[in-house]
Amino acid sequence: MIKKINTKTIKLIKFYNLINYNLIYNNKAINRYRKENFEASEDKIKRLELLKRSILNLKNCDLKKQAKNIVFSDGNPKSKIMLIGEAPGANEDQEGLPFVGRAGQLLDKMLSAIDLNREKVYISNIINYRPPENRRPSEEEMKRYLPFIKKHIEIINPKILVLLGSTAMNALIGNEVVISKMRGKWIEKQFGNCSTSVIITFHPAFLMRQPGQKKMAWVDLKMIRDKKIKLKI
Ligand code: URA
Repeated sequence: MIKKINTKTIKLIKFYNLINYNLIYNNKAINRYRKENFEASEDKIKRLELLKRSILNLKNCDLKKQAKNIVFSDGNPKSKIMLIGEAPGANEDQEGLPFVGRAGQLLDKMLSAIDLNREKVYISNIINYRPPENRRPSEEEMKRYLPFIKKHIEIINPKILVLLGSTAMNALIGNEVVISKMRGKWIEKQFGNCSTSVIITFHPAFLMRQPGQKKMAWVDLKMIRDKKIKLKI
C-alpha cells in the first residue's frame, strides 16, 4: 500500500531543502564542504578516468590476472600533495583502495602528526595490482607500470610529491640510489608538464619492522609540514 505524504511532510521536505540540511546536520566538520573540496575540474576527472581505463585495458599482465581489484588511488584529486607507495597488499586488493591495511593505519597516523589526512592528500602506488605473496614488484613489472604512474603525477600536478620507500624511489628517481642517503632531501623533478618538489621517506611497512627509524621519518614529516607552509598549501 502506498502511504500518502501529508502536506506537513511536504512542507518539511521543502524546508530542509531550503536550508541545505546536508551541510547543517553533518556531524563531521571535515565533511561539511566535502563536495566542493573534492570536486576537481571536469578535465582532471576525465583524464583520471581515461588513465584508469587504460590500466584496466592492459594486456599480458600476470599481476592483473591474479588480483581481485585494481587499486588506483585514494584521497583528494585536488590536493597539491601526492603520496606514492609500492603496490597493493591483500587488504588493498580486497577493497580496491591503497593503504587500507596495517601500513595504511600507520600512514594515517604519520599524516595526522603533520595535520594531514586523506581528505587533504592524494595517494597512489607504483603498481596498481597486488603482487602475489606481497613480493616486491619485478623490474619488468615496474617498467610496465611506470608510464601510468608518471601520467598520474602529471594529471594530479602536485607541488609536493612524497615517495614512500625504496620501490617508489627506484622507479621514479633511479636504481643507483639508496634510501638511507636519499631520504630527507628535497629534489626538484619534472613529470611532463608538472614541476614538483620530491621528498623520499621510509615506507610505513618498513617502519613497522624497524621502529627505531621512526625518528628519521619524523624529520621527513616535519620537512613536509614546513614545505607545505612555505608553499602556502
Ligand atoms: N603498501 C603499499 O606500498 N601500498 C599500499 O597500497 C599498501 C601497502
